[in-house]
Amino acid sequence: MFSVRFQGDPRTARAGAGETILAAARAAGIPLTHSCGGTGACSTCRVLVVEGAGSLGPPTPQEAAMARLLRFPENVRLGCQARVLGDVEVRALVRDEADESLVESELASGAVRAAGELRRVAILFSDVRGFTAFSEQHAPYDVIHLLNRWYARVTAVVHACGGRVDNFIGDGVMAVFGEASPESACEDAVRAALGLSAAAREVSAYACELFGTGWRIGVGIHWGDAVLGAVGAGERRRITAIGDTVNLAARIEAATRNVDAEILVTREVRRELGARLRAGKTVSIHLKGKTGEYELTEVLGLDDAGGDREAGAR
Ligand code: FES
Repeated sequence: MFSVRFQGDPRTARAGAGETILAAARAAGIPLTHSCGGTGACSTCRVLVVEGAGSLGPPTPQEAAMARLLRFPENVRLGCQARVLGDVEVRALVRDEADESLVESELASGAVRAAGELRRVAILFSDVRGFTAFSEQHAPYDVIHLLNRWYARVTAVVHACGGRVDNFIGDGVMAVFGEASPESACEDAVRAALGLSAAAREVSAYACELFGTGWRIGVGIHWGDAVLGAVGAGERRRITAIGDTVNLAARIEAATRNVDAEILVTREVRRELGARLRAGKTVSIHLKGKTGEYELTEVLGLDDAGGDREAGAR
């Protein structure tokens, strides 16, 4: 057995040859943050190797990739990946009182858990065009009335299509598809987008009659990996999706205004649905905050598996 000393902690962990620093820390009851559950998918278990750098095994491919991404110096290692081959002394780099209380509550439960789960999901973002102008021109109670009417329709459509409303953000909504049925994530999300389009037309007729203004929306959908995890604190803690897939879906929704399309999807969604997707224009555009160009396709409708046609977006 080798010794693993953690600076600032009077306890010394013991590790068998090839055991990770994280495993040794946990066995000794020493808190070491490990947000992804020790899979090499985050950087929260990072440690500075103070002594014995040569007593650790080489970086795993996951660790090497993370080190490149965050430009770690050579003496910074991931505790869940670095294998102990001799005595070492390290200092945990992501560690303060808040981190410790999170990790200690998990240590008490006995299991190594990730703060979330990596899943392949379809993310849908939608918002109401011209909502800021509408809210400036109308009484706040009228705005709330119409917004709640819209939210009720959105929630019903998303649920009917097997999705989950993740969040309402102002006049926008984010929904996740594929948590329960990964195989139909893209189809469910596109059906929901078409359902929202139909619902917006109904709400628009209502808004025109009462307030003399229409109700138009934009919808963006992307399919990719996201971490589903509990975020927030206390009563405001909730399950949400985090990751670039989410950011990209939000950017695509924003692009619907520039492209003059109601529903846009990425190439990944289009490929998944194949010829069943009734496509309008396809554009290659730069998205704010992203590098390179993205190929986005306008959705006009979706044929079901039997060849029947879903109501079009227009
Ligand atoms: S716990 Fe996430 S990389 Fe080590």
